Amino acid sequence: PKPRLLGISGSLRKASFNTAILHSLAEAVADRATLTVFTLNAVPPYDGDLDNATPPEGVAALRRAIGEADGLVIASPEYNYGMPGVLKNALDWASRPYGKATITGKPVLTLTASPAFTGGARAQAQLNEVLVAVAAQLVLRPQAVVASVHEKIRDGRLVDEATLTFLKAGIDDLLRNIARNASAIRQET
Ligand code: FNR
Repeated sequence: PKPRLLGISGSLRKASFNTAILHSLAEAVADRATLTVFTLNAVPPYDGDLDNATPPEGVAALRRAIGEADGLVIASPEYNYGMPGVLKNALDWASRPYGKATITGKPVLTLTASPAFTGGARAQAQLNEVLVAVAAQLVLRPQAVVASVHEKIRDGRLVDEATLTFLKAGIDDLLRNIARNASAIRQET
């Protein structure tokens, strides 16, 4: 079976460039992997009092989706030099229960997209630091930053071929990580 990838968008808006990139990637890599796009609209603010055996449904769905995926692709905007609060919030929920979180050990490719020339690079650095905290397996190359993204999306699809090629190389890195993990598990057993 093809590896299952979960694409998480850091933007809630329907016309999000980041969500559009995830949908375009899903189409572009369909021969190699199944990429399902997940948006964070149903994830409430983190509340330790609700973080028990029966968390809010949006949280349970997020944890389940991460758990069922072989790898994650997180695409995010930059808000005021950082990642959007909704994404940090989702990662906080995803990081629990401590030591047993479904995101721990999961291969993750991060990308940021912005109309600015900086492409959200600062948010990506912050996002990667948080992923170290949750002990996810970061795919380091390429540093996927999409600058001037408004010129590269038409009708909700990424139409810039060079960017698509670049991001597909990132997905291939992610798939290599997943394959390496699978062969390491086979050797252990
Ligand atoms: C932004 N934007 C932005 N862009 C950037 O490159 N650096 C930044 O620090 C910020 N800060 C920022 C703060 C807030 C509150 C908003 C709403 C926006 C612009 C942002 O990159 C742009 O709106 C993107 O289109 C958002 O991504 P989606 O929603 O298209 O995926």
